[in-house]
Amino acid sequence: IKKVGVLTSGGDSPGMNAAIRSVVRTCAYHNIECVGIYRGYQGMIEGDFKEMGPRSVNNIINKGGTILKSARSKEFMSAEGRKKAFEHLKKEGIDGVVVIGGDGSFTGALVFNKEFGMPVMGIPGTIDNDIFGTSHTLGYDTALNTVVECIDKIRDTASSHNRLFFVEVMGRDAGHIALNAGIGAGAEEILIPEEDLGLDRLLESLEKSRNSGKSSSIVVVAEGDKMGKSVFELKDYIEEHLPEYDIRVSVLGHMQRGGAPSCFDRVLASRLGVKAVESLMEGKSNYMVGLIQDEVTLTPLEQAIKGHYPIDTELLRVSDIMST
Ligand code: F6P
Repeated sequence: IKKVGVLTSGGDSPGMNAAIRSVVRTCAYHNIECVGIYRGYQGMIEGDFKEMGPRSVNNIINKGGTILKSARSKEFMSAEGRKKAFEHLKKEGIDGVVVIGGDGSFTGALVFNKEFGMPVMGIPGTIDNDIFGTSHTLGYDTALNTVVECIDKIRDTASSHNRLFFVEVMGRDAGHIALNAGIGAGAEEILIPEEDLGLDRLLESLEKSRNSGKSSSIVVVAEGDKMGKSVFELKDYIEEHLPEYDIRVSVLGHMQRGGAPSCFDRVLASRLGVKAVESLMEGKSNYMVGLIQDEVTLTPLEQAIKGHYPIDTELLRVSDIMST
């Protein structure tokens, strides 16, 4: 391999910059050229490239977001768009691409490889932690800490006013953030898409909690929860059935995607970047680098896309016991 292209695609996550830095510096270490591709696949289609050396990634390990910018490219979904992208890579002499992103980004990488034979490697970057083949995606740990910090603050005001708070956290189809940050922040109930507890069970639990002497409560709801109600509809429902509760809703939103990456995410990004580049050097393609039992491991992109990293159901039990 002579020249590696690196891009970030899909929703950004803290640790993406640390991963870019790792890819760029691993290339430099092995005397391989490296090119940053701006705005994900859209920049590939437009030839928005910049040569990167070890000094282009100074002072970014601690920065949230992505210096390469991110985008969700509609044009890349068309064969014509992908052809344009390949022409630009060819002209630039890029013979391997590292894609930092989520499952949508990996699907694009796979199609691209199948059509043009371009070697591709994926680094999982999303706060949702919903990718098979890694116990941690980049940004997940940071997002957990952000959510816990926010809920701690909400708890202060909740307990001052004897209120019940519904806190909505991110996780389109996955409850990892809700479940882990919920336990970390001492939530009374945690609602996740993987496990539909049903509204009756929620009512029962809130009633029990009030009767046991709790004056304030926090219910963490994953945005992708499938009880068929938005977090505001949930509030209305509980208000109607348990009118003694004074309820507020807090949607944490995109603040969960920002901020300085945790040490864990920085180290993970550094390890995954090294493995991605060195795997391309070994002639490998169509893999995602991930962490399995603290070992950096390769998983075929096809599997990473299909599967979801499963929820640890024991955590649901722990949460149940903790809310006694
Ligand atoms: O990064 C993943 C995620 O945070 C999901 O949890 C959420 O549904 C989605 O991104 C929202 O992203 P955007 O507003 O960029 O479409």
